[in-house]
Amino acid sequence: MIARKKIKNLQSRLLSWYDEQKRDMPWRKNHDPYRILVSEFMLQQTQVKTVIPYYKKWMKSSPTAEKLAAASESKVLKHWEGLGYYSRARNLRKSAIYIQHEFCGKVPDSMEKILKLPGVGRYTAGAVLSIAFDKKVPVLDGNVKRVLSRLMLLNENGNNKISETRLWNTMEDLLPEKRCGDFNQAFMELGATVCLPNNPICKECPLKRLCEANQSDKQDFFPPPKTSIKTTRIQVSAAVIFKKGYVYIQKRRAKGLMGGLWEFPGGKMESGETETECLRREIKEELGVNIRIGKKLMTHRHSYTRFRVTLHVFQCQMHSGTLSPSACDDWIWVKPDELKQYPFPAANVKIIKLLNKKSRIPRHPEPKPLP
Ligand code: ADE
Repeated sequence: MIARKKIKNLQSRLLSWYDEQKRDMPWRKNHDPYRILVSEFMLQQTQVKTVIPYYKKWMKSSPTAEKLAAASESKVLKHWEGLGYYSRARNLRKSAIYIQHEFCGKVPDSMEKILKLPGVGRYTAGAVLSIAFDKKVPVLDGNVKRVLSRLMLLNENGNNKISETRLWNTMEDLLPEKRCGDFNQAFMELGATVCLPNNPICKECPLKRLCEANQSDKQDFFPPPKTSIKTTRIQVSAAVIFKKGYVYIQKRRAKGLMGGLWEFPGGKMESGETETECLRREIKEELGVNIRIGKKLMTHRHSYTRFRVTLHVFQCQMHSGTLSPSACDDWIWVKPDELKQYPFPAANVKIIKLLNKKSRIPRHPEPKPLP
């Protein structure tokens, strides 16, 4: 239990600091609930500076829930291209459709209703309800967890259910009667700019006198370190199959990772396989054809949360067999300069850029077979 007087002191210090220091962000221009909802979907697991250009473009193409509900999934994924965690984009579109049909185009202002939206959990619900509607509900993201843990020497980082519940309850106890949206944003902002994971800038912190970690010089020991996520290295081969100036692309299955995005065909290397053996096998399995492999176009390394992927890309041609794609939701032959109309994972966008540098790839390449 925290003393009432201490809570009041914390609230007023934090809100005064926020009034002076808050960063200019495009979703802070007004309290339009749809604008806040979009920003909170984008900000899940993503930093403010990465989100801002995406957000600005998004608001031009889908300024209202009605516009978003009417957009195709492919168009929505195209606007999300490069931001990662693509289920957020699909859920945001589904939420807009739900808002249109069930709530007459208005983002709901109650916890019960807003939690019905696909992709909206307690965190996003709390952020939208407090920021857009000034409801007294807490938020808890990674930044808030760290600030709370230091402020009260809580040995929690939200890694398990009990620890998570304790942090939510603590945040709930701290909320002021009014300006809850600002209070929540101030907490997040303090974590993002001052109460940093390493080398927190305690001398600039408005809460330093109230912070138990600062007062006992223990800020480096809170929160306790998370058990680190193991990353797996994988090698992938991909084919840019040319036919009379067109290239083959396929749409990833809706259900899986990066579902609904387009890609060049290929797959994971198995142990003992070379890059080209892998490619021949994958294309035979997934497309039903034998390919002729030409020159290597590029090697690209890309990091995901759990994987470090090395992608080997080859220029190819169909050699024999009948094209019968079996591992995708759709497929198409397109001209290289039309590729940019389709949403692709970030690593594939690099391939497209290379293909459209005309000087490097002949327009109708006939790959020479490898010896
Ligand atoms: N992170 C998530 N939501 C945020 C917001 N509204 N302001 C700052 N950082 C955030």
